[in-house]
Amino acid sequence: MRITIFGTGYVGLVTGACLAEVGHHVMCMDVDQAKIDRLREGIIPIYEPGLEPIVAHNTAAGRLQFTTDVAEAVDYGELQFIAVGTPSDEDGSADLKYVLAVAGSIGEHMNDYKVVIDKSTVPVGTADKVREAVRGKLLERSADIDFDVVSNPEFLKEGAAVDDFMKPDRIIVGTDSDRPQELLRELYYPFNRNHERVIFMDVRSAELTKYAANAMLATKISFMNEVANLAERLGADIEHVRRGMGSDPRIGYHFIYPGCGYGGSCFPKDVKALAWTAREYDYEARLLDAVEAVNSAQKHVLFDKVSHYYGGDLAGKTVALWGLSFKPKTDDMREAPSRVLMEKLWAAGASVQAFDPEAMEETQRIYPDQPGLQLCGTKEQALKGADCLVICTEWKEFRSPDFAQIAAAIRSPVVFDGRNLYDEKMLGRHGLSYYAIGRGLNQ
Ligand code: UGA
Repeated sequence: MRITIFGTGYVGLVTGACLAEVGHHVMCMDVDQAKIDRLREGIIPIYEPGLEPIVAHNTAAGRLQFTTDVAEAVDYGELQFIAVGTPSDEDGSADLKYVLAVAGSIGEHMNDYKVVIDKSTVPVGTADKVREAVRGKLLERSADIDFDVVSNPEFLKEGAAVDDFMKPDRIIVGTDSDRPQELLRELYYPFNRNHERVIFMDVRSAELTKYAANAMLATKISFMNEVANLAERLGADIEHVRRGMGSDPRIGYHFIYPGCGYGGSCFPKDVKALAWTAREYDYEARLLDAVEAVNSAQKHVLFDKVSHYYGGDLAGKTVALWGLSFKPKTDDMREAPSRVLMEKLWAAGASVQAFDPEAMEETQRIYPDQPGLQLCGTKEQALKGADCLVICTEWKEFRSPDFAQIAAAIRSPVVFDGRNLYDEKMLGRHGLSYYAIGRGLNQ
């Protein structure tokens, strides 16, 4: 099938590359000329395991093309995916200007039947707006061309995006007519062979499914963070509580890891956007507001622990920080807890020696010439001359460090762990105190 994808961010690029990988012909369009030039050379703008080789060999095979030419892009595919960004407005609502601009372009340039597919996470009701935007442009041209709008939200996780796309748990397709249903069935046939993974529903339900799924996952995390904070005060250990809870299959072990708050481009934005949609429809989503509030507060917990340890006086202290990205296997720093921590440390007069396996360039880009920030080449270098160690991201290489080396390198024998990677006794053997999340024993 011939497919056009608008937007070469995470969702667009992964979708395009993976659809090409199973034999479809894909054209990815982006307004960013430099990005398109690099993609044509096989250089991908993000760190995503497994994506580069797929982009490279499908580009070489001619199944994956890149363009900045809107007319060419619209003309190319019978299926037109919209995968551009939907940033949060100040009030938390999703800003649809990019989505609707693409819809307008499709209406402006299309000459035959198209299925317009919303792949970006968009509020309930967006498909109607997309339909209006396409129709508006067709009317301007006095063109009578048929089209359908479909909601097909993406569920990939950063760091596992290629795997998630190639082996999806489910493929949600929201459509209000038969013709696009048949086309989407054919499109996803290669991903659907062992058992039926496509779930068809109406457009609005598909749009809501995406938000509800992310909001549910975010709720699990905020719930656990709240129980962790409680465990700390009650002298209980959340890691025991987590295992005890997870063993109930109705609860399950997934997504109940407490930490220093969820980040990324999805959960914070989507929880706020769904709460905003609720308000728009005169419903106060109290649970969603609480999920967001608990998470915002959780991002301050590590700072509070460090500050408390030093009696509230952090001036002149140097903190070694391991992990900057919002989670492992990505260089993404959007809404990362590390940012809240660093900014609070700087405001308190402390400086940071940071290391992350992938997010160093991104940190440099976000904080150019930041006084009080030193980016270090290795996790060991970050320790040199530091007062204490703080961990924000659970990268594999932080899981079993040389505790003796840590104890020798830092001035105060203390580790603050925002991801509960260690056992208090392991650190105790090396004379290190251990402050983690929700572990009442030593807090
Ligand atoms: C999330 C969802 O997991 C995907 O299913 C969804 O498709 C995607 O958003 C999206 O809407 O595009 P992602 O943001 O890439 O994916 O990252 P996650 O792996 O879900 O992690 C999100 C945050 O939650 C991270 O900061 C992570 O550290 C935190 N987290 C996760 C916890 O604090 N505890 C957990 O138990 C799990």
